[in-house]
Amino acid sequence: MKNHAWRPLWLAIGLIAAVLTARHFLVPQDFGVHGDSFTYNFYRLGAVQFWEDFPDKYQGRERCAKCHDENAEANATSKHRNIQCENCHGPGTGHPKQVKQLPINSSRELCLRCHEYLAYPSSLRSQLPGIDGDTHKAGKECRKCHDPHHPDLEG
Ligand code: HEC
Ligand code: HEC
Ligand code: HEC
Ligand code: HEC
Repeated sequence: MKNHAWRPLWLAIGLIAAVLTARHFLVPQDFGVHGDSFTYNFYRLGAVQFWEDFPDKYQGRERCAKCHDENAEANATSKHRNIQCENCHGPGTGHPKQVKQLPINSSRELCLRCHEYLAYPSSLRSQLPGIDGDTHKAGKECRKCHDPHHPDLEG
């Protein structure tokens, strides 16, 4: 064969060798097929332990109820029964041992996140009882009138 045919061939071989070498160094050793099929078993073995050790951010209300039983009971029997404590108080991991207190957010924004009326007729969002945050008792904290753990419309 003439030079002009060999040159691109060497180039191609060189490129493939470079890719294979790079792959050897870049892909972790424990990456591969772990199991009997290719479909779901292509992963890094170390990833299993990584996710097992990954710390949870949220505890769930059953845990909160162990100590804050009054709030938990009020919440469970109210219109807010589907709302997790940590939705309003933030993630509870480490509380109360390392994190002594969880934040209490008394801003109108906390509530308006869900209760600002939005007209999306085709979605469940517009079925939440909605108000206009600019005019509904403007400037006053919502909790002055509505108990966040057991809201009603008594005002
Ligand atoms: C093992 C018991 C325990 C568990 C479980 C627990 N807490 Fe607490 N929590 C406490 C203690 C103790 C305090 C500090 C009380 C104080 O200083 O008056 C506290 C304080 C708080 C405060 C601040 C109260 C204030 O007056 O400033 C909030 C909010 C709170 N916890 C929410 C939660 C939520 C939400 C959960 C679930 C994710 C939870 N707690 C789980 C024991 C617990
Ligand atoms: C819709 C938002 C919301 C949810 C859901 C919610 N809280 Fe609260 N929480 C507040 C606000 C706002 C305050 C401060 C107003 C007040 O004093 O009642 C508060 C106050 C508290 C306090 C300190 C004052 C007190 O009443 O003892 C604790 C403890 C607390 N919440 C725990 C909980 C726990 C436990 C849950 C779940 C069972 C929960 N909260 C669910 C918004 C919420
Ligand atoms: C994560 C979303 C969410 C947040 C945040 C939230 N709410 Fe609600 N709220 C709801 C849902 C869901 C209902 C129940 C709707 C139903 O059953 O029709 C509700 C119901 C209510 C009601 C109507 C009670 C009734 O008798 O009809 C009031 C008042 C209320 N919430 C006030 C508040 C206040 C005050 C805050 C802030 C402290 C707050 N909400 C934060 C979702 C939320
Ligand atoms: C001064 C007391 C007061 C304050 C502050 C207040 N509300 Fe109300 N809210 C009421 C009363 C009374 C009603 C029932 C009659 C009405 O709609 O005016 C009501 C009704 C509601 C309803 C039901 C609306 C419906 O159509 O079913 C929601 C949701 C609500 N408020 C959320 C909030 C939120 C969120 C805040 C803070 C941004 C807030 N409220 C602040 C007194 C108050």
